[in-house]
Amino acid sequence: METNIFIDFYALVMSLPILLVLCKAADTVTKTHSITDGTTLVSSGQRFELGFFSPGSSKNRYLGIWYKTAPDVVVWVANRNNPFHDSSGKLVITDHGNLLLLNQTRSVIWSTNTSWVAKEPIALLLDSGNFVVGEKNKITSSEIFVWQSFDYPSNTLSGMKIGWNRKTGLEGYLTSWKSDDDPSDGDFTYRMDNKGPPQMMVTMGQTRMFRTGTWNGVRFSGLPAVSDVVFKSTVVFNDNESYYMALPNIADTVITRMTLNSSGLAQRFILRNGETDWAIMYSQPYEPCDSYGHCGPNGICRINRMPICECLEGFTPRNPEEWKILSWSRECVRKNPLTCQKGEGFVKLVGVKLPDLLEFWSNQNMSLRECKEMCLKNCPCKAYANSDIREGGNGCMMWFGDFIDVRELSIKGSEDSIYIRVSASDMKTIREANAKSRLKKILVNSLSVVCIFCLVFCSVYGKIRKKIRGFRRQKEDIELPLFDLATVASATKNFSPERMIGAGGFGSVYKGNLSTGQEIAVKRLAQNSGQGLKEFMNEVDLIGKLQHRNLVALLGCCIERKERILIYEFMPNESLDHFIFDNKRSTILCWEKRFNIVLGIARGLLYLHRDSKLQIIHMDLKAGNILLDKNLNPKISDFGLARIFGGDENEARTRRVVGTYGYMSPEYAIDGKFSAKSDVFSFGVLLLEIVSGKKNRRFSHPDHHHNLLGHAWLLWNEDRALDLMDGCFKDSYVESQVLRCIQVGLICVQKFQNDRPTMSSIVSMLENEGTILPQPKQPGFFIERSSNDENSTPKNEETGSQNSVTMTKLDAGR
Ligand SMILES: *[C@@H]1O[C@H](CO)[C@@H](O)[C@H](O)[C@H]1NC(C)=O
Ligand SMILES: *[C@@H]1O[C@H](CO)[C@@H](O)[C@H](O)[C@H]1NC(C)=O
Ligand SMILES: *[C@@H]1O[C@H](CO)[C@@H](O)[C@H](O)[C@H]1NC(C)=O
Ligand SMILES: *[C@@H]1O[C@H](CO)[C@@H](O)[C@H](O)[C@H]1NC(C)=O
Ligand SMILES: *[C@@H]1O[C@H](CO)[C@@H](O)[C@H](O)[C@H]1NC(C)=O
Repeated sequence: METNIFIDFYALVMSLPILLVLCKAADTVTKTHSITDGTTLVSSGQRFELGFFSPGSSKNRYLGIWYKTAPDVVVWVANRNNPFHDSSGKLVITDHGNLLLLNQTRSVIWSTNTSWVAKEPIALLLDSGNFVVGEKNKITSSEIFVWQSFDYPSNTLSGMKIGWNRKTGLEGYLTSWKSDDDPSDGDFTYRMDNKGPPQMMVTMGQTRMFRTGTWNGVRFSGLPAVSDVVFKSTVVFNDNESYYMALPNIADTVITRMTLNSSGLAQRFILRNGETDWAIMYSQPYEPCDSYGHCGPNGICRINRMPICECLEGFTPRNPEEWKILSWSRECVRKNPLTCQKGEGFVKLVGVKLPDLLEFWSNQNMSLRECKEMCLKNCPCKAYANSDIREGGNGCMMWFGDFIDVRELSIKGSEDSIYIRVSASDMKTIREANAKSRLKKILVNSLSVVCIFCLVFCSVYGKIRKKIRGFRRQKEDIELPLFDLATVASATKNFSPERMIGAGGFGSVYKGNLSTGQEIAVKRLAQNSGQGLKEFMNEVDLIGKLQHRNLVALLGCCIERKERILIYEFMPNESLDHFIFDNKRSTILCWEKRFNIVLGIARGLLYLHRDSKLQIIHMDLKAGNILLDKNLNPKISDFGLARIFGGDENEARTRRVVGTYGYMSPEYAIDGKFSAKSDVFSFGVLLLEIVSGKKNRRFSHPDHHHNLLGHAWLLWNEDRALDLMDGCFKDSYVESQVLRCIQVGLICVQKFQNDRPTMSSIVSMLENEGTILPQPKQPGFFIERSSNDENSTPKNEETGSQNSVTMTKLDAGR
């Protein structure tokens, strides 16, 4: 013993200079170098650190790995179910390469429990966050380790694989912590089900809580497409292994992880370089339709419908009374049972999360046609679908039991479809209905041609024209749920004044509660409001079809007697202008929130401009039309003035300019010309208002008479752009982001519309720090504003939307 110490001491002295360097960044445990409480290992690239820690307010000590730059986030815990109660813990490696955690009396608290013949075993913390054990000389060159922490994930997915090694039978999965203070095994797991095409699950014990849907080659069928910019999801399944992994795409500027928290919520977070707060990219489950089997067997969940559950085609509630009171737990049953007689066929359901794989069969090689033939011949087969949607679709899945956990989820371009078997008599009805609707379409189309023809001739009789068209649109175009007046009245206590949450030229907005408990916002249009039937239909028609997290969702409408009522999802936090222009409330929206709001608005607008099938110009983008949800996420609302462009159309002109002063682009305000670039202008104004906390229109400055845009432009040219910033951010802002926002704002409000970028460039300018921004040119209205213009403008700022518009473009665009 003594000689040993002497030799160690001797070696220490001799290698002192080297050790000094090594001490700083040791990343290995060897027979002579163990880890005690208080010392840590750091991976060679400084990304991860390993050592003892106490979670939350706990006093217990655990051995774990965390991000070097974010020490609060522990990505792996060794002794999660067996803590130390003091700081005597020690991590050593034995001659046989076993890692042991020992307490003061040298009892083993945790071990890797491996057995192999080692020459010189070491344990190494890699820069991926993987803690690996192997032979000293081979460990860095080979990818095969005797033991690795990545095989035993904790509650965080930070680079490891979740899934199965089919050769060893080892499964890697996340297990939630009991609580933030207690890393021991909690109630929830996040794991891969690989009995068929792989899908990920959150389970509580044996109960499935959430399911991503099967991997279709591109994404999981039940999750919205997530862009690959930050990280890329991969699923591999072959004879050796099947796993899910998310690899960062821009590893040097962000880190990303997914954590299953102790309530069973799987959340993906990102942290940008230099920032300290993790942003949530998505959560699973996210909305009611995500909760497993929400609508019961053979039901389908549609988040934008009211009620959100319906039976699948060919099915009807087993107990219609229960179903009516919005209790979906009982199943839907076949209207006409399948008897396997001739004439049975399939109805196609597009854009859904495919049913859970409970009783199923799958094959990766078959085509859709072979799949259909096989299903049709095979009486118990209730439905079929492609298992991989790439290259026009491939592979075959068949279902034999009930359809569980189906939800609607329309993702343009990469949709999953399922073909559901229906009885011969249903098939006959469907064929007849199809034939009828085709006939009706032809009739309506020819009728419309005749009508339009007629309208051209009859345009002198404007009033008649108006009525006919209003009638036609009203009868046919509504796909939304219609609420009856009694329901709406009872939800709002008969439109009681105490339920009123807003009012304007258009009418009043009430808060309502449906009997299901759902909160709604009810927009009751004044009977003498400028918003005529046409604008009403316009709005209903438009938003009824839109689905985006940054657009307010329309749940339904009500047209009864003279009432015109729109029913929206309720936004508890009112609109953005109530915050940013208010001295007290502006402090609630710190810089991080505001930046998030800017990004949300930009994404919502991009969706309108580019992602939905037709191009939609909002025409009235302003702070008052941005609503905030309970987490202060922005949602664009009020589509009363929106225009639709179809086909090649991208610019139009109107004689009646309606909108809100201060946000209107010069070409629109002056010439009535409008295009997507008019929205870009309004977005720029909004962006500068969000950064400065000042209204463009009401802006005044002792030194000049310019509006906010002009003021920003002057500051920009004097290199003092930061002076524009709202004082309430204090020191909590990110300077580069603020400057970027101001620059993007100025680029958007440039006088000439061709100089302004498209929303898709704007989103990428805002999202990617690295994008080089052009220098802004002079903003619109820089010289136009004179000091007395404030009083001479005829339009009313708050109720810009109330005047009626001639919607000629709308009809031409459809
Ligand atoms: C070490 O662990 C053993 C077994 O868990 C336990 O009996 C013993 O009391 C522990 N010693 C100390 C000092 O905590
Ligand atoms: C791990 O430990 C258990 C009991 O503690 C033992 O039965 C098993 O054989 C060990 N496995 C290995 C690989 O050493
Ligand atoms: C599976 O593993 C074997 C040997 O370990 C290897 O030869 C084969 O290529 C692997 N298969 C795939 C699909 O990776
Ligand atoms: C899990 O995350 C959600 C959303 O952030 C949060 O509401 C919930 O309280 C978390 N659960 C726990 C136990 O921390
Ligand atoms: C699919 O096709 C490949 C080659 O075409 C073949 O090797 C494989 O056995 C087939 N798999 C199944 C399940 O039929």
